[in-house]
Amino acid sequence: MRQRPLLWHRAALATLLCLCAFPAPARSQSAAATPAPATVEGFNCSANSTYPCQAYALYRAGFAGVPLDLSAVGDLFGVSRFMLAHANNLSTSAAPANGQPLLVPLQCGCPSGSPNAYAPTQYQISSGDTYWIVSVTKLQNLTQYQAVERVNPTLVPTMLNVGDMVTFPIFCQCPAAADNATALVTYVMQQGDTYASIAADFAVDAQSLVSLNGPEGGTKVLSEILVPLRRQVPQWLPPIVTHNDVSIPPPSPPPSATPGPSDDRNGVVTGLAIGLGVVGGLWLLQLLLLACLWRRLKAEDRQGEAVVSGDGGEAGRSAKSASGGGGGGGGERFLVSDISEWLDKYRVFKVEELERATGGFDDAHLIQGSVFKANIGGEVFAVKKMKWDACEELKILQKVNHSNLVKLEGFCINSATGDCFLVYEYVENGSLDTCLLDRARARRLDWRTRLHIALDLAHGLQYIHEHTWPRVVHKDIKSSNVLLDARMRAKIANFGLAKTGHNAVTTHIVGTQGYIAPEYLVDGLVTTKMDVFAYGVVLLELVSGREAAGDGGELLLADAEERVFRGREERLEARAAAWMDPVLAEQSCPPGSVATVMSVARACLQRDPSKRPSMVDVAYTLSRAEEYFADYSGESVSVSGSGEIAAR
Ligand SMILES: *[C@@H]1O[C@H](CO)[C@@H](O)[C@H](O)[C@H]1NC(C)=O
Ligand SMILES: *[C@@H]1O[C@H](CO)[C@@H](O)[C@H](O)[C@H]1NC(C)=O
Ligand SMILES: *[C@@H]1O[C@H](CO)[C@@H](O)[C@H](O)[C@H]1NC(C)=O
Ligand SMILES: *[C@@H]1O[C@H](CO)[C@@H](O)[C@H](O)[C@H]1NC(C)=O
Ligand SMILES: *[C@@H]1O[C@H](CO)[C@@H](O)[C@H](O)[C@H]1NC(C)=O
Ligand SMILES: *[C@@H]1O[C@H](CO)[C@@H](O)[C@H](O)[C@H]1NC(C)=O
Ligand SMILES: *[C@@H]1O[C@H](CO)[C@@H](O)[C@H](O)[C@H]1NC(C)=O
Repeated sequence: MRQRPLLWHRAALATLLCLCAFPAPARSQSAAATPAPATVEGFNCSANSTYPCQAYALYRAGFAGVPLDLSAVGDLFGVSRFMLAHANNLSTSAAPANGQPLLVPLQCGCPSGSPNAYAPTQYQISSGDTYWIVSVTKLQNLTQYQAVERVNPTLVPTMLNVGDMVTFPIFCQCPAAADNATALVTYVMQQGDTYASIAADFAVDAQSLVSLNGPEGGTKVLSEILVPLRRQVPQWLPPIVTHNDVSIPPPSPPPSATPGPSDDRNGVVTGLAIGLGVVGGLWLLQLLLLACLWRRLKAEDRQGEAVVSGDGGEAGRSAKSASGGGGGGGGERFLVSDISEWLDKYRVFKVEELERATGGFDDAHLIQGSVFKANIGGEVFAVKKMKWDACEELKILQKVNHSNLVKLEGFCINSATGDCFLVYEYVENGSLDTCLLDRARARRLDWRTRLHIALDLAHGLQYIHEHTWPRVVHKDIKSSNVLLDARMRAKIANFGLAKTGHNAVTTHIVGTQGYIAPEYLVDGLVTTKMDVFAYGVVLLELVSGREAAGDGGELLLADAEERVFRGREERLEARAAAWMDPVLAEQSCPPGSVATVMSVARACLQRDPSKRPSMVDVAYTLSRAEEYFADYSGESVSVSGSGEIAAR
């Protein structure tokens, strides 16, 4: 009995997370700026389709060194093993056979400015990888290298480093009403394929392939075509959400009249019910046909529906619930299924474990605010304690994954007290503000390091602004929310105020003095440009080594305006050099590079939000400033007491 509230808490939380679990369509900035090269294929965005939507790609297991393992395939596309298993009616523990086709669920979008519809997938470059090689091997021609170049405007394709995160756009399409399909599958034509053979495999008519892809003669081997799925998107696939209300839909019985995909347009959450036992017979039939064709390995009994044990331990994962034929038990099974998907991704900690690791949340372990340092089994984590209903942050963190954002490792819910704990990676060198204020440490923060920090932050912000959907606005960018790891690379922390959605208006103004954008303060307007403004202030702090707001309330911003931004442009370099952190002036620090950063800061701090650059522009400009630095021959500038440039 005592398990029930716990289950509900978790389930509700899991639901929140699931609502945002999809990687979101990225926006292609370069495409907006320059016309797309005509050679890039893919599927054109269509005015008759509604984006984003659920889509699929057909992927063959066991090629290009990708292990025969659902997790490995899922990782490649940013989907969980659980989702993949369910889309293909496999047990989560099943290993796909060599060459077995798998339907990979994708969230397909058509970002503004992009000529093509695609699902962005994050890929970490390893040795020997190029855009082309990854596209034709691991990603099996589901994308093309030209499109990869387009969606990664800040990366130089010939200068990739091992470990770089690259967005690969998997081509996909959303159905138009006339297509009479609930979802479209991206299929790469193989040697020997004909429309007739593909139509037979997917149990659709060949004519529908003609209307989607044009006449058969026009398609080449290894080009991408679209295949319709006629039936309702399988109920066990997580729903598509186009709004971001935190509502927990009641567990619903399997719908008899199933909504079509056009319902998603209104932001209606569809298909939340996971009535595995009862779900759409025709879709089952279709899968069975595929199953025969694919000579699938024997599938396991039922889907592994994990039950979370009362103590919240990971051990509870593998337990199976007795799933009846739907009906009364449906509600609970819906919850349980949702959780297990989530468990796939995060570690669940026990309350006692966290208490022990933090000395009962003792002040000695306090890092800052409500964040404690915890040592669990030799691993160090940062644990944030919050009230259960303050878990908006979880919802956002769940859908981001970037090396310049603090990583969520796990969570814990205390059902007795309603406390919710978020467990993050521990970032060794603490926050940027403490590092800058401690003059001895600031001295070790040389210009190159500061430039890297600025660039890291730009990349992190660019990621949340451009590669999440709905977009995330952090809302509280400041130097105390920037953490530095052992290599002094920066990570953005504290998404506690973050918001999904763009152009929202709020009456509840929250933020930190010295960083708040004027349009937010005055009109409550929430856009990504408010983060750009706050980022501009952090740049000023990096250059000057001073706080955004002094003890007397004087603003760094006003000082920069007064002493650096005003006046003749040619003298900016000199004014910036005179204004910068004295510890930087002692080092050899290229004045051109400092001036570039100051002009970026000035642009970010424009009063009119529409005049501020996007983080894409900022990242680009700063990477140029970094090159400038690399070219710098070592000529140093010395600043005399009166602040005049003596030499260059
Ligand atoms: C896609 O758009 C391009 C450029 O607008 C056009 O040339 C091409 O014919 C379109 N393709 C399809 C299939 O409509
Ligand atoms: C969109 O739909 C309209 C009306 O059904 C049709 O005339 C038009 O050709 C369609 N456009 C595209 C790009 O399919
Ligand atoms: C992808 O296409 C290239 C040719 O463009 C081909 O050499 C390669 O074998 C294809 N990859 C797969 C997995 O089919
Ligand atoms: C849509 O597809 C279904 C199932 O194949 C078929 O019964 C129905 O007639 C189709 N509707 C149209 C308008 O083509
Ligand atoms: C999934 O596999 C099980 C066991 O092989 C089978 O009974 C069930 O009908 C399959 N469901 C679908 C949708 O193919
Ligand atoms: C984030 O991405 C990295 C690199 O691709 C991957 O190893 C990791 O599992 C991902 N984490 C999550 C929570 O998706
Ligand atoms: C950052 O951490 C490393 C390793 O823990 C340490 O050696 C270094 O001194 C720290 N840097 C600063 C500026 O605190």
